[in-house]
Amino acid sequence: MSGSARYLVLAGGLSHERDVSLRSGRRVLDALRSDGAEVDLRDADAGLLAALTGAPADGPGGTLTSGGDGRPYDAVLVALHGGAGEDGALREVLDIAGVPHVGAGPAACRIAWDKPTAKALVLRAGLSTPPSVVLPHAAFRELGAGAVLDRLVTHLGLPLMVKPARGGSALGCSTVDKPDDLPAAMVSCFSYGQAALVEKLVSGTEVAVTVVDTGDGPRALPPVEIVPLSGVYDYGARYTAGATEFFVPARLDDAAADAVAGAAVAAHTALGLRDLSRVDAIVEDDGTVQLLEVNTAPGMTETSLLPMAVDAAGLSFGRLLRTLLEQAAARG
Ligand SMILES: Nc1ncnc2c1ncn2[C@@H]1O[C@H](COP(=O)(O)OP(=O)(O)O)[C@@H](O)[C@H]1O
Ligand SMILES: [Mg+2]
Repeated sequence: MSGSARYLVLAGGLSHERDVSLRSGRRVLDALRSDGAEVDLRDADAGLLAALTGAPADGPGGTLTSGGDGRPYDAVLVALHGGAGEDGALREVLDIAGVPHVGAGPAACRIAWDKPTAKALVLRAGLSTPPSVVLPHAAFRELGAGAVLDRLVTHLGLPLMVKPARGGSALGCSTVDKPDDLPAAMVSCFSYGQAALVEKLVSGTEVAVTVVDTGDGPRALPPVEIVPLSGVYDYGARYTAGATEFFVPARLDDAAADAVAGAAVAAHTALGLRDLSRVDAIVEDDGTVQLLEVNTAPGMTETSLLPMAVDAAGLSFGRLLRTLLEQAAARG
């Protein structure tokens, strides 16, 4: 790819994670520009398709930086989190518009975005993920909430983790220690989505593993260990500086570190992902790696896990993203 390649970072969107995405987008823009890339930042809105071909931004809220100089973009980096960036729809549109993008294709994004589907696939690949039950809101209502919840507690035991089957940034997630807390946890979860994923709560060392593939196969970067000071890695713990302690690489023995790296690469592969992803997992005290979920548009803010792993690997964030954009552009 020549030095005049032109790239576009997409950030914003209408999901609950809009603010986080805007922060990710800014950070990515700065990193790419520091590396000398020619890059713009814009929202994924009604002006996007025209902008991809180099047309001027149509009105406010379109291009967040300059841009629209008449040249089409060579590749796009999606920094939209939540459904807007991860449910596959935007990738579908980029594909039909013929614009290469960094990361997984639409089908793989759809699979990873739906946590129960992703869990089924990683289980089939021989990996571990916490035992769970998926309850759509409608079934819960129609079959009688009380009876269903009683069976659920009997089946999975306590404590439990309740989270939206499709979601991010820990929004709508709660832990449940006693049966009385379950109804409120379900109600809060249903305010973020139509289906709840109720999982057995696992304990151990929480890690996030970035997987990157710059052309020679997927590899795991150093795992980032997450220790929220409040004990729960919720929205506040994620996006408030100082609210969580991180250890990079994670304080795992060599065997556990190898196991978590292997499981992350295997999950990335089992879900058919591409370029980069972030795998969230808990390493239990006996060394079992319990996979929680895989993110296809991981956070890239100042407090995000992926940039920390990139630093710890001794890589330049801007250089890596630029390499991935060049790779996407070459894929055409
Ligand atoms: N089964 C579980 N056991 C223990 N903690 C969990 C479990 N599932 C999720 N968590 C906690 O909740 C957080 C959010 O869950 P996750 O599945 O990663 O969803 P999100 O897409 O919101 O990041 C995790 O970072 C972890 O701290
Ligand atoms: Mg997560």
